[in-house]
Amino acid sequence: MHNKTVLITGGNAGIGKYTAIGLAKKGAHVSIVSRNIEKGQKAVDEVKLLSRSDQVDMLHADLSSFESVRSLAKQVQEKYPTLDVLINNAGAFFTDYEETGDGFERQWQINHLSGFLLTNLLLENIKKSDQGRIINVSSKGHYKGFLYFKDLNRSKKYIGLAAYAQSKLANVTFANDLARKLKETNVTANSLHPGVVKTAIGDKNNDSWVGLVWKIGKLFMISEEQGARTSIYLASDPKQSSVSGKYFDNCKQKEPNPYAKDERLMDKLWEISAEQTGLEH
Ligand SMILES: NC(=O)c1ccc[n+]([C@@H]2O[C@H](COP(=O)([O-])OP(=O)(O)OC[C@H]3O[C@@H](n4cnc5c(N)ncnc54)[C@H](OP(=O)(O)O)[C@@H]3O)[C@@H](O)[C@H]2O)c1
Repeated sequence: MHNKTVLITGGNAGIGKYTAIGLAKKGAHVSIVSRNIEKGQKAVDEVKLLSRSDQVDMLHADLSSFESVRSLAKQVQEKYPTLDVLINNAGAFFTDYEETGDGFERQWQINHLSGFLLTNLLLENIKKSDQGRIINVSSKGHYKGFLYFKDLNRSKKYIGLAAYAQSKLANVTFANDLARKLKETNVTANSLHPGVVKTAIGDKNNDSWVGLVWKIGKLFMISEEQGARTSIYLASDPKQSSVSGKYFDNCKQKEPNPYAKDERLMDKLWEISAEQTGLEH
């Protein structure tokens, strides 16, 4: 990975941080995106220490704001005219309904819309790479997902887990659509399930039964380092250089939810995501 630049959203914690460590160890220049500057700087120091590399830096962005995503894209375009790997890893899980300042349900915007916008804004930079790679960190939960186009916010009858599964199905569908659109280019797009990983993602719901189940479940989950394996593999393995439009689990290709391969759904998701993010403007 020498002379390769990698951008990882949510790189200040959990799977993203260990993905950063793994790729920095392989010689990549790694830029992590963090919404909290102090936390991000601490993570940069830790990634540098554990990877024994000084090729690590941090960019600030809050993925619950499109303005912040646009400002992040501008910084990346200026700093890294060529981007080799983009890992859309940042994600959140919430049991309570809340809207962002842009008017979208939080999981829909943080887990899908912001990655959609960022990827599109950085496409020209990724195309400049000899072999660009886009990786969406989805979840096994996507199998239970359904894209409810009538109300993607799911505001009428909110169930946090269903909204999460929908956003994770969007991650796989979007990667498959990108692969289709980028077929004639040197850029690949894939998605993955990292495993069930001992991270803080379920801790942000302490007042619900989900938070409690997560706390107990952590005793049986794999480590963050293990959870980063598939992301690192897809970002760096030479054998994956021409593999595109696939879903991976434990570093192996797996059939995704058939909805994620439906071209009419891909078209619809793209159209709505472009409209909701204001991509053309
Ligand atoms: N853990 C699992 O078992 C599991 C299973 C399947 C899929 N995944 C997926 O793996 C990915 C990484 O999750 P994780 O388990 O490593 O969780 P995590 O430890 O909570 O890490 C999530 C990362 O996303 C960042 N993030 C959340 N909201 C953000 C926002 N508004 N703006 C910018 N960054 C934001 C977090 O920043 P803060 O530190 O500031 O919160 C953190 O860096 C997610 O996409 C998740 O859906 C995880």
